[in-house]
Amino acid sequence: MSLTYHRTVLASDMARQLLQPGALEQTLQSGLFLSGPRRVGKTTFLKFDLIPELERRGAIVMYADLWAQPQANPADLLITEVRRTLEDLGAPHSALLSRLKAISHLELAAAGFKFGLNLDKLGKPGGTTLAEAITELVDQVRTDVVLIVDEVQHTLGTQQGGDLLFALKAARERVNMRPGTPGRFIFIGTGSHRAQVQELVIRGNQAFQGAESRPFPVLGEDYVQFMLDQSRSQLQEMTPSLGVAFAAFQQLGYKPEELIKAFQALRAADRSVPADTQLPIIVNALKVSTGNIELARLDQLGGLASEVFSRICAAQDATKGLFSARALSDYSHALGRDVSVTDVQSALLALSDANLVMRKDHGRYEVTDPFVKQARRDQLLYRASDSPGLPELGEARRDAE
Ligand SMILES: Nc1ncnc2c1ncn2[C@@H]1O[C@H](COP(=O)(O)OP(=O)(O)OP(=O)(O)O)[C@@H](O)[C@H]1O
Ligand SMILES: [Mg+2]
Repeated sequence: MSLTYHRTVLASDMARQLLQPGALEQTLQSGLFLSGPRRVGKTTFLKFDLIPELERRGAIVMYADLWAQPQANPADLLITEVRRTLEDLGAPHSALLSRLKAISHLELAAAGFKFGLNLDKLGKPGGTTLAEAITELVDQVRTDVVLIVDEVQHTLGTQQGGDLLFALKAARERVNMRPGTPGRFIFIGTGSHRAQVQELVIRGNQAFQGAESRPFPVLGEDYVQFMLDQSRSQLQEMTPSLGVAFAAFQQLGYKPEELIKAFQALRAADRSVPADTQLPIIVNALKVSTGNIELARLDQLGGLASEVFSRICAAQDATKGLFSARALSDYSHALGRDVSVTDVQSALLALSDANLVMRKDHGRYEVTDPFVKQARRDQLLYRASDSPGLPELGEARRDAE
């Protein structure tokens, strides 16, 4: 189902705070970071509500998703987007310009812009820097430029990612710290891992220290009401009450896809039992199967990946010690074969490719989605209590932490 519930009030409020910050919103000048769990609608909100609203208010918006290609250098993904925007605006019949003219009240030049930049080497050593490109963009177009980086935590843990953040900080300072700048450069980052996004803002050596970090506002009762209205003709007498449906949505981690699955199950359910009685039962079953679906991806990566993943899950925070002698001996014991450091490296690469774990910094790894981590921890605890022969969660935790 591709019905989008538009969050216009939220988008308009956020866009106003970003483009016309009041006295208490000045920290947004250093960047806004929004974090929330997986599949709660972060990207949908950015694409369908926030970006159109920012554009309507006359900003130029660039968007890059660092999960689009997990193995790519984040800087390349972002530079491609900046280059594309500059090339589009510089073209004789700019599509972006026509669109902006149609939706905003911007006074834009009739013809395309002329950027005196060499875009071929944008962001490369000896070439135009990101700061120069963004300054030129703001100066020519004479409006605010917003850069949105989805899954921004992927800049953590690599030199390239760190360099990119500093390049963005340089751009921000170059543009915004000039008296009478014709527009500002505004940075928005979103991510699926609250702690990691938070780290971008609080860590002393990070470029965005002092920026604002907020939890992504999850969908609310109004969305559930919208879904009930949309599904009523199909659910008929199995339509639950708003209170029960909203409680289900909360239980399912505020994830629209899960609510839809629950409604689908209701539609197929025994009609002699009232919807409000059945929905909580369906929700319980779904919660178990959702965690299992994510974890099924893990099974496809093989036994060692699964062992390494469990070890990461056992620790409260990001963990190191995945390559220690003790760890290698545990993996070998569990799999009944010798396991080398290289094997563990390959397993970690496979886990990162599958977006199940991410490297935080040198040698420390964390599960990408805290919900999946919890599901795995539950599974491990359950197994440990079920068969005393298996290593206890506590034991793995002691070693991993
Ligand atoms: N406002 C909305 N109205 C209807 N459906 C929505 C809305 N927001 C999200 N969804 C649905 O929820 C699912 C997840 O949305 P989305 O990809 O935006 O979430 P996300 O938080 O960016 O996820 P990820 O962690 O995978 O990046 C999608 O199927 C999307 O269609
Ligand atoms: Mg997303």
